[in-house]
Amino acid sequence: MLKKGKALWLLAAAVCLALVLAACSGDTAGDVEETDGDTSEEAGTNTGEAAGEGNLDVGIVLPTRDEPRWVQDEQRFKDALADSQYTTEILFSQGSSANELQNVETLISKGIDVLIISPHDGDAAGAAAAAAAAEGITVISYDRLITNSDAVDYYVTFDSVAVGAAQGQYLIDNVEGTGVPLYLYAGAASDNNAFLFFEGAWSVLQPKIADGTFVIANSSEAEALADQAELSRDEMGRVLGQITTNWDPNEAINKAQTHLTAASDDLKGDVAILAPNDGTARSIADTFATDSDITSYVVTGQDAEMASIQYIIDGKQSMTVFKDVRRLVEDAMGMAIALLDGNTPETTGAYDNGAKEVQAMQSEVIVVDQDNVKAELIDSSYYEASDFTGLE
Ligand code: BGC
Repeated sequence: MLKKGKALWLLAAAVCLALVLAACSGDTAGDVEETDGDTSEEAGTNTGEAAGEGNLDVGIVLPTRDEPRWVQDEQRFKDALADSQYTTEILFSQGSSANELQNVETLISKGIDVLIISPHDGDAAGAAAAAAAAEGITVISYDRLITNSDAVDYYVTFDSVAVGAAQGQYLIDNVEGTGVPLYLYAGAASDNNAFLFFEGAWSVLQPKIADGTFVIANSSEAEALADQAELSRDEMGRVLGQITTNWDPNEAINKAQTHLTAASDDLKGDVAILAPNDGTARSIADTFATDSDITSYVVTGQDAEMASIQYIIDGKQSMTVFKDVRRLVEDAMGMAIALLDGNTPETTGAYDNGAKEVQAMQSEVIVVDQDNVKAELIDSSYYEASDFTGLE
């Protein structure tokens, strides 16, 4: 046992050492806190070289592992970063803005210089962006725009208005006659993209609603606006309030069931369905397929998820909008590397996020259906032919 005087001296020395070490840890925020299992430990992925505390270059935060779309982004990031000299870590927010903020704080504490973030909720993510900006970190919004925040520096995205326009145009090109019942569905109102997709779809569908080609089957708010070529954000918000799926396939099933139960006979038969993405398209398509009064349906989608490619091959989903995630990852990492190297990233335009014009890099999208699925997705090596059955 130590004498009391000696023990106190050792304690004092230990405290001094701890203080010196803390001072040496530079701008890291002390211990790195682990977020809960779902969001950080299990979902976190170190790509590139192993990153110790304080030397991580790029942090990547994606909205959820529960949708194949974002798991695909994770894989494409890993593929792109396999031989990178930069250290990166990918965390998932699991559909929670609180987890998202915690993930960003974790990455800040690991010393990132660039944050690439696809927000769960565009407005709420302003707090995470502000926390990063306060540490001098450059914030790149990825696919989804962080809204009403001046803490976002850049935006890499697909042309989301074009996605919606392509969906609407596909319905126009693939129905026959007039008075075709049109069922409208949309994404989550917390996601700026949901508005952009709907805006694009409405821009082409509205004239065809006005001329009687389509009859809106499931939204009194959309019906009330049927004569208006352009809708304000508030007007779109009212429509989305009725037709949102919240990007949730189960909510999509419930909504579709409710709409079909309420629909009169003249709103059945051969119908058109605007489904906002592949996950909801499959749910909605399955629900319509079980209604014996539905003779046929044309249904849209987006993301080229593998399950939807199989649905397209099998004739259960009509189309998808292919957004080549390899390209988005390349653009985002290209931007991050330019910043790490002290250069100004290339941009192609700007998006107004409600607080500022955010410099953006935008890429194009491709419509895929049975006719070109092999050329666009297999011949381009996006997927392997062996991933599917029945592919000619
Ligand atoms: C993305 C889509 C995705 C949807 C649901 C949107 O912001 O652009 O690709 O399907 O979110 O996660």
